[in-house]
Amino acid sequence: MDFFRIEGGRRLSGRTRIEGAKNAALPLMATCLLTDQPVTLRNIKPLADIANMGRLLAEMGVDVKPAASGVSLQSMDENRVHARYDIVRTMRASICVLGPMLARRRRAIVSMPGGCAFGHRPVDLHLRGLEALGAKIELRGGDIIASADRLKGDTVFLGGPFGSTVLGTANVMSAATLAKGRTVIECAACEPEIVELANMLNAMGARIQGAGSPRLVIDGVDELGGIDHVVMPDRIVAGTYAVAAAITNGDVTLDDFPYDALLATIQHFREIGVHVDRVSGDDPMRCTVRVTSERNLKPTTITTQPHPGFPTDLQAQMMALVCVAEGNSVITEKIYPERFMHVAELMRMGAQLYRQGSTVVVAGGHKLIGAPVMASDLRASASLVLAGLAAEGETIVNRVYHLDRGYHRMEETLNALGARVERLKEEKPSAAEGETASRGAGMSAAAPQFMQDDR
Ligand code: EPU
Repeated sequence: MDFFRIEGGRRLSGRTRIEGAKNAALPLMATCLLTDQPVTLRNIKPLADIANMGRLLAEMGVDVKPAASGVSLQSMDENRVHARYDIVRTMRASICVLGPMLARRRRAIVSMPGGCAFGHRPVDLHLRGLEALGAKIELRGGDIIASADRLKGDTVFLGGPFGSTVLGTANVMSAATLAKGRTVIECAACEPEIVELANMLNAMGARIQGAGSPRLVIDGVDELGGIDHVVMPDRIVAGTYAVAAAITNGDVTLDDFPYDALLATIQHFREIGVHVDRVSGDDPMRCTVRVTSERNLKPTTITTQPHPGFPTDLQAQMMALVCVAEGNSVITEKIYPERFMHVAELMRMGAQLYRQGSTVVVAGGHKLIGAPVMASDLRASASLVLAGLAAEGETIVNRVYHLDRGYHRMEETLNALGARVERLKEEKPSAAEGETASRGAGMSAAAPQFMQDDR
């Protein structure tokens, strides 16, 4: 298992480009199940989750091939409809094959995703939406078994206790593209990844209106064609590198920065004393920004919300940042009330955090001190790396395979900006030696076999 050794206290400066969005790419990859034509996606990195989705699609009879900076997918065998537990358990986003497979193959068996490191994550809204379009759904032996003749458009309400659902909207919207008649999705997710999916489906021949608003209107078509599509930049990666610049009081230029997808985050940065200045680029989803910060950061109050509110996927990173601000910040998690695995680990580094239910009070102004810490999910890992950059002394972040699910060789990006982060491999302890580490081994998570790692 790889871990990071971080020498803290180095100011970041320089320039880097934001990679393509994993959370956009996963449902985009699943659209290949809606057509027998090739779907080529570019600007995606060989992340562990992308590899898992490739493996899953290959099991679903899809020919998965490398393409320049991406992947090409073509559905060949439409009789293969079982997404097995072995793969689904590695990645919850596997659920996004359900809608597309059901819509075109008329049958789908998808292992029910299990629990997740940050709490209960049900899929009831996905199932409710597909049932509204006429699917028959039963749960048997841990599998969701869905079948339908041609799906029929209807009005679907996708609101749940924590707002809408991103992948649920992706599933129902994708399925509705091939349904008979008109589907209206009320309380649809408004996330930029949904807009991206709708735009790509429209370019494949779908008829979707309203993407980016809570009301989607989808007029079903008989078939969809192929596509060659460049995936949007990753707003969470962009926010994470902006925090890296700010937490080290650095000066970093970020290219392909999806400014318009991060307005709530940028507003909080402003309150704290972090400047995100647009330098160039007419496209507000791919511009160049310069991130600088004031020496003494101010506290803030953050509540995570569905888009366009502050994203839950940046909560942990922002918590690391306000640890070094002067004064008390308050962070409330409204999407996943249990998403706080980073709290205890940040406290090991000297952060003064007080949690009450889904709220954490951060008493800022205390020095972070390097310590061994344990990554427990993707964004919590990012938060610990960020804290390590600002901490005095050496931080060891264990289990960075979580980080590798969503950031492409983060240590290399940070080192190019002046950080000192080493990826090391934990060796199996021998009876005589106990645990040791070998330098430079395992420089990144294994690249998916179907993609070229441009290392
Ligand atoms: N929910 C339900 N029922 C459902 C589905 C969701 O009650 O059927 C609840 C969830 O438990 C949660 C809320 O609704 O409280 C929102 O969940 P959502 O379905 O929107 O999450 P998701 O689509 O499964 C995506 C991202 C997550 C991100 C969330 C929220 C992908 C692959 N995943 O998950 O990303 O946190 O939206 O924005 O797109 C990450 O990248 O680290 C990550 C976890």
